[in-house]
Amino acid sequence: MNLQYKIGNQSHYIHYLKDNYNQISNDIDKLESDKKLLFLFDKNISQEIRKKVVKALKFSGCKVFEIEFIGSKKNKSLKAVLKIIDFMISKGFTRKSTILSMGGGVLGDLSALASSLYMRGTIYFHIPTTMTSMVDSAIGGKTAVNYQSIINSIGTYYHANKVYLLNDIIKLLPYREFNSGLPEILKCGLLKDKSIIKILKNNHELIKKKNTKYVKDLCFRSLRIKINFFKNDIMEKRERLMLNFGHTFAHAIEMALEKNNSKNFEILRHGEAVGIGLLCELYYASNLKENKLIKTTKEILNLYKLPINLKYLNLNKSNLQNDIFKFLFLDKKKINKHPRYIKLLNFGKPTIEEMPDYNKINFIVRKIL
Ligand SMILES: NC(=O)c1ccc[n+]([C@@H]2O[C@H](COP(=O)([O-])OP(=O)(O)OC[C@H]3O[C@@H](n4cnc5c(N)ncnc54)[C@H](O)[C@@H]3O)[C@@H](O)[C@H]2O)c1
Repeated sequence: MNLQYKIGNQSHYIHYLKDNYNQISNDIDKLESDKKLLFLFDKNISQEIRKKVVKALKFSGCKVFEIEFIGSKKNKSLKAVLKIIDFMISKGFTRKSTILSMGGGVLGDLSALASSLYMRGTIYFHIPTTMTSMVDSAIGGKTAVNYQSIINSIGTYYHANKVYLLNDIIKLLPYREFNSGLPEILKCGLLKDKSIIKILKNNHELIKKKNTKYVKDLCFRSLRIKINFFKNDIMEKRERLMLNFGHTFAHAIEMALEKNNSKNFEILRHGEAVGIGLLCELYYASNLKENKLIKTTKEILNLYKLPINLKYLNLNKSNLQNDIFKFLFLDKKKINKHPRYIKLLNFGKPTIEEMPDYNKINFIVRKIL
């Protein structure tokens, strides 16, 4: 299965590769490139898959350089971007060189940023390796790193020319990296496609076992919805904003958790925060009344054992409450006094609204802590 979409007069492709990676070497072969390729990969991906990709890259006649990363919010930094750029300078990369990143949303976002900055843009290919990245971050061109504790505060728009979804990756994906991408799929269902909700509900046992037919179908349904929202609004002025459903709260929760986390591991994956964020925004929209959308969202999050609140975390609740409230005001969608969110009261009918009722916000934040 493949997807093609256009931005301006430039075509972009998403390929699903079952077990043969010839497509990658063929695509690289066709490029007008200097045959220098930087392969950035996440350390936690199976060695076997990595070797198979490198073999395909070398088959195309490229000189392949490799750098290993570990995905985590803490590593989504300017330091990591500069490390890539320093390496490229040291090896004489040009704007006709290629970056291929193979990792989750963190490695994808920072590699795409490095690719957009180096010599004002090199060729960029991406292999997303978590469900969040497969259904969401791999396309749409948003690149970013976190800076001064603010999520995605430095970034550009730069689209991967080719994106490859590998069946081998899906099959070996650990449960959490698979599961945490499901809220982004659920988000697409609530925004535009009721059949996604049905598939998630009725086939949860098979989906949890990563059944290829359903997983592939969900990936491509979500990707199509995302493309339709962003293709005419890359800079997020109108309809693309709707894809932020759940993210005003999700980002504030993520930033507050990072600030209050002294441990060396990530407490909550981005996708898990999105699941909770969807519920928070649905509660704000419904004036705290448990409506059908809230019931459905909770039901699906529960079916996949995804968190619906943060009560299970042993953290200082009053600090967290203050920080979540404070970080809501750093959201990029805010244009006036109040933070904005995506309001959804009926399936498929999102709007962007302000949140002027701070008592209601605080009630919701207390409810999830
Ligand atoms: N650009 C966009 O449009 C967009 C959209 C959604 C999310 N994002 C960004 O994506 C990031 C979250 O992405 P994520 O959840 O993929 O996080 P991530 O990249 O940090 O990956 C999560 C964990 O999974 C591991 N991992 C990755 N692939 C693996 C594999 N195949 N097997 C085993 N382990 C693997 C990583 O090492 C990491 O520990 C956030 O920074 C978020 O802002 C960007």
